[in-house]
Amino acid sequence: MAWSAPYQPAGTVRQPDAVPRALRSGVAGRAAALRYACPMTTLFDPLRLGDIGELATRVVMAPLTRNRAAPGNVPTLLMAEYYAQRADPASGAALIVSEATQVCPEGRGYRDAPGIHSAEQLAGWRRITDAVHARGGRIVAQLWHVGRISHFSLQPGGAPPVSSTARAASRKAFTDEGLVPCSPPRALRDEEIPPIVALYRQGALNALDAGFDGVEVHGANGYLIDQFLRDSINDRVGSAYGGSIEGRMRLLLEVMRAVAGAVGGGRTGLRISPANPLPGDAPDSEAQPLFERALDALAPLGLAYLHVIEGQTGGPRDAWPFDYSALRRHFAGVWMVNNGYTHEMAEAAVAGGSADLVAFGKPFIANPDLAARFRARAVLGVPDSKTYYVSGATAAAGYTDYPRLDSAVPAETLAKAAPTTSASSATSTTSATTAASATAAR
Ligand SMILES: Cc1cc2nc3c(=O)[nH]c(=O)nc-3n(C[C@H](O)[C@H](O)[C@H](O)COP(=O)(O)O)c2cc1C
Repeated sequence: MAWSAPYQPAGTVRQPDAVPRALRSGVAGRAAALRYACPMTTLFDPLRLGDIGELATRVVMAPLTRNRAAPGNVPTLLMAEYYAQRADPASGAALIVSEATQVCPEGRGYRDAPGIHSAEQLAGWRRITDAVHARGGRIVAQLWHVGRISHFSLQPGGAPPVSSTARAASRKAFTDEGLVPCSPPRALRDEEIPPIVALYRQGALNALDAGFDGVEVHGANGYLIDQFLRDSINDRVGSAYGGSIEGRMRLLLEVMRAVAGAVGGGRTGLRISPANPLPGDAPDSEAQPLFERALDALAPLGLAYLHVIEGQTGGPRDAWPFDYSALRRHFAGVWMVNNGYTHEMAEAAVAGGSADLVAFGKPFIANPDLAARFRARAVLGVPDSKTYYVSGATAAAGYTDYPRLDSAVPAETLAKAAPTTSASSATSTTSATTAASATAAR
């Protein structure tokens, strides 16, 4: 019988001849044969994730911006409750990736999104990481700089946002006045870039100070790092951070080296979206070699994981052609996938070896006990997009009020599990409703 090994990260590749030899003799051989006959990993098997720790399952909560931070972009107690609801590894996420969090005031592009650069913000995050750890969970901070996906009203001193380019993004920024077109950015001078790299490094140190188990650098979805990576956005001429693949990936590599150097590669992950057509932007014209060379260059860092959004974030998984299994041959660590995964797709990906971990975004919004529902093959609650991005008095609606399977709610009503929405919250979420449709890919 032909035998083909499921894909294994380099270093753990099963030797094709080992099992047939073991099959031939003795007790050890029979034990090996049993393992050989049942090699399938399931979504509920544990996994060691670098120095972040031992994960109880393969179920991860994807980063989800929810705009619930208090003035000063400070994480709140309500946010601690929300994360804690999803932190029990037995019923929820084995690992939570926090919502994107700004490493500096200039990295801000959405009102009421949290930061990780002030003492108040760190104290707010500490309440969240403590709450997650009290449930036995693990959490990493997603480090964010939005670059040009911003508006001058969100920037210190009303300055223009900064980017790899001076061309405005054809996206919207979520300001105090609602959704407005992104402001034209100012192209960073090369000498201004190392200080930004240092801000990511400090953000990583701050995250560990605030009790996070590690960090995930946000290199996806058209934010600052992606703005440097893509030749459809990066139009720098005569810059060390533009032009060739080497130039375009320089910011990513410098950030990753600085962050991993500060907190350890084993506590550092990276999120990318190599084939994500953003509104008004194309992916890189040479995305496959770009990301493969970037992963080759990152190999010495021994990153804990790579988090790959397959296709258009929140949209079609095959929006642009991209060979993810070819990309994986350039990374030896844990491979986390995301985008539109159902329970069945996730089980198949883990069993077939095309993923080590699967991150779920929208399913975790309406199902704090997503893993328990998967195990029970129960119906899933449906998230209400009107409450995705809501701050203020009605922030709890559609945030912390989704029921659990083991709550008093009869199972048959869970399919329609909509959050409690009062008349006043319906009124006050008007701008957020529009925001939901325009900013789903964070
Ligand atoms: C409300 C909402 C907020 C999001 N915020 C972030 C974010 O902060 N950082 C990020 O990298 N992706 C963000 N995303 C993208 C998700 O992490 C995920 O990639 C996307 O929802 C697709 O996964 P899913 O099909 O499991 O929902 C967000 C998506 C939604 C719907």
